Amino acid sequence: MQLMKRNVDCGSLRKDDAGRTVVLNGWVHRKRDHGGIFFINLRDRYGITQVVVDTEAEAGGGRAAELAAACAELHNEFCIAVEGTVRPRPGDMVNPSMPTGEIEVLASRILVLNRSETLPFQIDGESGAGEDLRLKYRYLDLRSAAMQHRIRLRSEVTFAVREWMTSRGFLEIETPTFIKPTPEGARDYLVPSRLYPGKCYALPQSPQLYKQLLMAAGFDKYFQIARCYRDEDSRGDRQPEFTQIDIEMSFVDRDDVLSMTEGLFGHVFRKILGVDLPAQFRRLTYEESMERYGSDKPDLRFDMPLQDFAPFVEAGGFQAFKDALSGGGETKEPAAGLGAAGGGVKALVVKGGAAYSRRQIEELEAHAKIYKAGGLAWMKAASDGTIQGGVARFFADNAAQILDGLGAEAGDLILIVADPKRAVANTALGAVRSRLGKDLKLCDPARFEFVWIVDFPMFEFNGEENRWEAAHHMFTRPQEKYHETLEKDPGEVKGDLYDLVLNGCELASGSIRIHDSELQKRIFNIVGLDPGEAEKRFGFLTGAFKYGAPPHGGIAPGLDRLVMLMAGQTSIKEVIAFPKNSFAVSPMDGSPGDADQKQLDELHITITGEERQ
Ligand code: AMO
Repeated sequence: MQLMKRNVDCGSLRKDDAGRTVVLNGWVHRKRDHGGIFFINLRDRYGITQVVVDTEAEAGGGRAAELAAACAELHNEFCIAVEGTVRPRPGDMVNPSMPTGEIEVLASRILVLNRSETLPFQIDGESGAGEDLRLKYRYLDLRSAAMQHRIRLRSEVTFAVREWMTSRGFLEIETPTFIKPTPEGARDYLVPSRLYPGKCYALPQSPQLYKQLLMAAGFDKYFQIARCYRDEDSRGDRQPEFTQIDIEMSFVDRDDVLSMTEGLFGHVFRKILGVDLPAQFRRLTYEESMERYGSDKPDLRFDMPLQDFAPFVEAGGFQAFKDALSGGGETKEPAAGLGAAGGGVKALVVKGGAAYSRRQIEELEAHAKIYKAGGLAWMKAASDGTIQGGVARFFADNAAQILDGLGAEAGDLILIVADPKRAVANTALGAVRSRLGKDLKLCDPARFEFVWIVDFPMFEFNGEENRWEAAHHMFTRPQEKYHETLEKDPGEVKGDLYDLVLNGCELASGSIRIHDSELQKRIFNIVGLDPGEAEKRFGFLTGAFKYGAPPHGGIAPGLDRLVMLMAGQTSIKEVIAFPKNSFAVSPMDGSPGDADQKQLDELHITITGEERQ
């Protein structure tokens, strides 16, 4: 087939190019017929150029009939080549919103490279197509300007990461994607071995163990753009396969990893978005974050802190608050890692929220209840200095102290959660805070508020299994001051462990690791992993610790989440070329799909239970 190769793309012609003869290749974005004159918006990934086809004039040098026939046939998304002459648009036809809006190309030849059937949806991002339809025809969805922009952004971010890491002496090293099944937290994806019946490789949930082995191997600065696989339920910021910027360093402490990460993000944001980030990000301890924002991933684009209402409880007449404070919840269990034993009564001041209707407050209450709150109490600050509505009558005598103490003013709404478990009061009210942030549009999409959460508890108590488990992973080093007394009170132990949060989203996690086998054994012991099992699962790592493994630590920012936030999106699917849907299915290629019986036989797999479809 004839190929009229382009000598310019659809985004670059300007007024200065007038008079040039050019060849463009691209897709018919729109075609308008003005009776003998056709206007075609020709699109490629660089932009859109207006092509004019005057089938009556002799622009084509005697090919008017041929042009007319070609034009008549064209429909949206036909892939075509156009030869023509660049000319300035008449003044009243200039389109200032298009980079190529000052010119048009008067066609002399059109060649249809491929036809398109009727489209399942329009390629303009405003098609309103549902997610499954978009994913079924992802190759069409990806043609939209919005998707092209985001996929390009992702490529640029990835390049900027590589650029910065390599300029700082980090080596990019690949680690295997067929590894030994050593579940890290989520479920593994398994790959059955053909050669060894009954044995499986696992796809890595992260390169964690391998990057530690690379430290043992002397590669003191490593990074990798690593694909990770976790068989867990999908959500907006989770996919079964996703990408981490995996990083590990030797001879470092926590602050070295934190400042390296700040440098990396500083470079990426400056280069890609032109945004200057602070040289150092804010830091909150896990406890501060839970107490002040009711979350270990607070959105700091707005403050609206949780405040302690406890000082006002005693003088008031509301028994439910008194009961919550006096315990019942007194427990040593850190409530699945949520910390803070004992009861709590926490309050949130919503500026100008007195206008909230009872129904709106009930909706917030329903939200709080999802997070196990018994209810959501409220009162409003009136213009005469009194408090009104909800539970106000129990506290009328102390209105001035309460308003003053909480910094509430006339017109504000005060929301309160009391619970015998302080952690529940914090998380439930924290969830209300997050919801209000969105409802009241307090989250400026153009702002990027990074915050480090540090000093996480090392262990979480698993009430169902009645045992301690690692809050992050078992290779995290407990902070030095707890080393002697680890076993005495695991709930008290803080790890050398940190999360980086951006606009309420956990962007990265990391830690300083254990590098001596004795300490590692004690951690295995606390989480109830018996030595035989530990040796079987992790012996290759602990073995490496015996041969002079250096002190080391690292971090892994999620690339998908990073690009999602930089693109102002709320789902990582919007920045992944071929994501799975919420059911871990790809509507485009139909994965997961059936394996042939022959393949199953070779892999020694028999399907039992539900019959194969
Ligand atoms: P963690 O499990 O916290 O730590 O993951 C690190 C970061 O990876 C991203 N992430 C995900 N992104 C999309 N979909 C998912 N299912 C998903 N799961 C995680 C998040 C998260 O912050 N080995 C450790 C890191 C380390 O200690 O160095 C780890 O994997 O952005």
